[in-house]
Parts: sequence; C-alpha cells; structure tokens
Amino acid sequence: MICKKIMNSCSDLISLHRCCLKSLLCHQSTPAWWHVMPQNYCTVREINIKTETYQNTRHKQQSSFNDEEVRKFGALSDHWWARDGPYKPLHSLNRLRVPLVRDGLISTGATVSKDGRQPLEGVTILDVGCGGGILSEPLARLGASVTGLDASHKSIEAAQQHSSLDADLQGRLQYKCCDLDTFSQRLDQQYDAVVASEVLEHVDSIEAFIESCNACLKPSGSLFLTTINRTPLSFLGAIVAAEYLLRIVPVGTHTWDKFVPIEALKKLLEERGLQTRLQHGMLYAPVLDRWCWVADTSVNYALHAVNIADTSVNYALHAVNYAPESPMSPESPTSSLS
Ligand SMILES: C[S@@+](CC[C@H](N)C(=O)[O-])C[C@H]1O[C@@H](n2cnc3c(N)ncnc32)[C@H](O)[C@@H]1O
Repeated sequence: MICKKIMNSCSDLISLHRCCLKSLLCHQSTPAWWHVMPQNYCTVREINIKTETYQNTRHKQQSSFNDEEVRKFGALSDHWWARDGPYKPLHSLNRLRVPLVRDGLISTGATVSKDGRQPLEGVTILDVGCGGGILSEPLARLGASVTGLDASHKSIEAAQQHSSLDADLQGRLQYKCCDLDTFSQRLDQQYDAVVASEVLEHVDSIEAFIESCNACLKPSGSLFLTTINRTPLSFLGAIVAAEYLLRIVPVGTHTWDKFVPIEALKKLLEERGLQTRLQHGMLYAPVLDRWCWVADTSVNYALHAVNIADTSVNYALHAVNYAPESPMSPESPTSSLS
C-alpha cells in the first residue's frame, strides 16, 4: 500500500516535471512567466502572436476543436453530477456564474421579464461546452430557453439523462452533440447570449473559438466567458496546487500553455466587435468549496462582452450601473444555483 502510494507520488512528480519542461520548451527563450508583466503577466510579443493571425476574415483552416481534450471529459462523463467528484468546483462555481449571466442579461435589456423567479424568460442561451449541463440546468430554471452544446457524446448523454429527471426543464433545455465550429456554420438561429464557461482553456484556436461564438450571437448579444489566465500564479494555483497537491481535479486536466491571457483575449474580442463590459477575478477556497469574486484576474476570471453592432445597446449598458459585488450576490432561489 505504502509502496503504491510512493510510486504514485513519483509518477506524479515526473509528470509535473514534464509539465514544467513542456511549458519552458514551448516558449523556448522567452517563456511568458520569465518575463512577468506587472498587470497581466503577459508579454507583448505573446499578445501580438495571438492577434497577428487574427485578421478580419474568418480563418476556416483554424479549428478550435481538440479531440484529446474532449475525450478527457468524455471519459469522466459518469461523474458530471457527483457532488464530491472531479467536477465539484464547477458545481460551486454556479454561485458566481449563474448570477453573472442573469445580471448581465438584465443589464443589457435582453430580458424584460417581470417574473422574479424566472427573470430570463424569453431569452435564448447557447451554453458552449456544456459538459453534463451543470450550468445549463440552472439557467433554464431561470426561464431561459437553453441549448447545451458539447462535442462529447458521452457528456451529452449524461446531460440529457440528468435533465430528464426534472419535469420543469422539459421544453426549456435541449442538448446537441457537435463541436462549436461545425455548429456555428450550420446555425438555424442566433442566440441572445452565448456562454462558454471553463472551455477556452481546452480548445486549440482561441481565435476560431471566439469567431464561432460570435457567429452564434444575435446583434447586441452577450458573450459570457470564464477561464484561466496564463500567469506564473495560475501555473502554481491551477496546476501544481489544484492537480498535484490538493487533488481538486484530476492530474492532467489542464495544460498551462492553453491558458488564456486576459488582455490578449480582450483585444481579440474587441477586434471582433465584442466590447468587454465586465471583467472580474474569481477565487476558489477548496476547504470551504466556495468561490468568490476578487479584483485579481491572474488565475481564474470571468468576462462579459457585448456585440456592439447595435449602438442602442451601448446606451442601455452605460445607463445601468452594473457591478458584480452588488447585483451579483447569489440571491436566486437555491435550486437555481445548484
Ligand atoms: C471543463 S468542461 C466545462 C463544462 C461546463 N461548461 C461546466 O462548466 O460545467 C469543458 C467542456 O468543453 C467541451 N468542449 C471542448 N471543446 C469544445 C468544442 N470545440 N466544441 C464543443 N464542446 C467543446 C468538452 O467536451 C467539455 O465537456
């Protein structure tokens, strides 16, 4: 038993060592975390590389889909709804992200529902990379018409199976198995909001992913993203601590060089006509299994961006004092947040 534990720890140390080496080698002479920038820890060179290839035309040859990443989640599809399982932090993240979407949509005027329990009545939401539907379900319970999209068959099956247990979700929540790029090229409708929570750090081309999200959005629609920044701190927090030391998520869940520098992402969004209306850091306390909003975006962060093709929304947005600390406190019914 002890021998087995020692062997496991050794093999984990070897993987961690490989992971550090890979991060170093990928960035050769200029690893981003050697050149720490005071605000976002992201080198200018890195931002340029990210946006250089990103002209105003759609890059069909680039794809956001990464088969290996999607398989990783498919393999754990039996665990999506295990409250103490590998997705525990995603369940508790609903405390922040459900109010983020709800209040963001109220602030843009996307919903005019007077029903306090179902404030998102009439709003259409595409939940990209929905996995087992941990976020799709509470959004549908708030009245939205939600389409959960995921490239993994097994995850979609798990999501469908779970939502079938709640009669209130029928007719409001549907799931589709498809990768985002393909889905966005065969759209039969556009959505008031596109949500991609904890997905960006698992895709190949961020540019292609954002373009596909944008293609799914109505003019003036809202894009909500949560992801992980690429900083020295995120390497320590999201990989070394979360995977190797505290075992919050399985080893190998994340790859540091897939993490997304916040400033580069905002620039990318801006170039596509998506104006960032809110950015906020998120902090997880594993012992309490609780997330809270923080100012620091150097590890986990959330963004709300609006497609500003329609200038009338700009006016509405400026008119609303929209800050996460107050309206985003999770005062929704408990059932909506879990
Ligand atoms: C970390 S999980 C997040 C699940 C869910 N958003 C949540 O937070 O509960 C990432 C999910 O994104 C899916 N995914 C990754 N790339 C995708 C793509 N290009 N198109 C559709 N789904 C994708 C994976 O299959 C996986 O289920």
